[in-house]
Amino acid sequence: MSSKNKLKNYKPKGTKLRHVAIIMDGNGRWAHKKGKLRIFGHQAGAESVRRAINFAVSYHLDALTLYAFSSENWKRPRQEVIALLELFVRVLEKEVHNLHKNKIRLNVIGDISRFSARLQDCIRYSEKKTQHNKGLILNIAANYGGRWDIIHGVRALAAQVQDGRLRPDQIEEQTLSEHLCLNQIAPVDLVIRTGGEYRISNFLLWQVAYAEFWFTETLWPDFDEHVFERAINAFLKRERRFGCMTV
Ligand code: FPP
Repeated sequence: MSSKNKLKNYKPKGTKLRHVAIIMDGNGRWAHKKGKLRIFGHQAGAESVRRAINFAVSYHLDALTLYAFSSENWKRPRQEVIALLELFVRVLEKEVHNLHKNKIRLNVIGDISRFSARLQDCIRYSEKKTQHNKGLILNIAANYGGRWDIIHGVRALAAQVQDGRLRPDQIEEQTLSEHLCLNQIAPVDLVIRTGGEYRISNFLLWQVAYAEFWFTETLWPDFDEHVFERAINAFLKRERRFGCMTV
């Protein structure tokens, strides 16, 4: 993270934007356009991740959630999956000290048990090192799927019902929410998707119930603070009603 950030204290007081989630799409097409292998796009995408985190810190967001690897991404060519997971290890090893220095708390969501022991260790080490930080909460969704998240939560509640600790009629929205990823932090306000696709791709299905969505044709490796700012400006113009009437 660069400490020389020109956007410091950029956030206007009182803004209601606290949590942004991003579906980072378009790395492969970006690389293809340059006649390079897809992994080259992922590597460039890692630089965009760094820029997005810097911007989120400067803007004093409470939380930034990035969709890095979906539970469906295992279906990609084996070489790409290996290279992508290797990139995660390299980026984490290189950046954990900068994250810590910038008071960022790292939280990885998803089923990490399928990752190599090295990547799992790296994730646990980075989470532990940054666990007491009070700045930006950086959630990285890795081997994450919204349906997996909900099933996981439902199983936990079912176990409580089976043990007699919970009655089915006691299950409310809040009861399930408490067993899903990101339950301890501010709700997602804004979802950004790059790469020109208009879908949710099994990302945070429950958590985005009242989020605003912003889509851009920009491919993830080209995503920078200016595009981030456009997304935020669009968000700030939205009227959020949370299911209520306007007048
Ligand atoms: C989607 O683009 C992107 C991914 C599946 C991987 C995202 C990974 C990074 C940005 C690399 C670094 C991330 C971290 C957290 C260190 P795509 O490959 O689906 O692109 P396409 O739609 O053009 O094929």
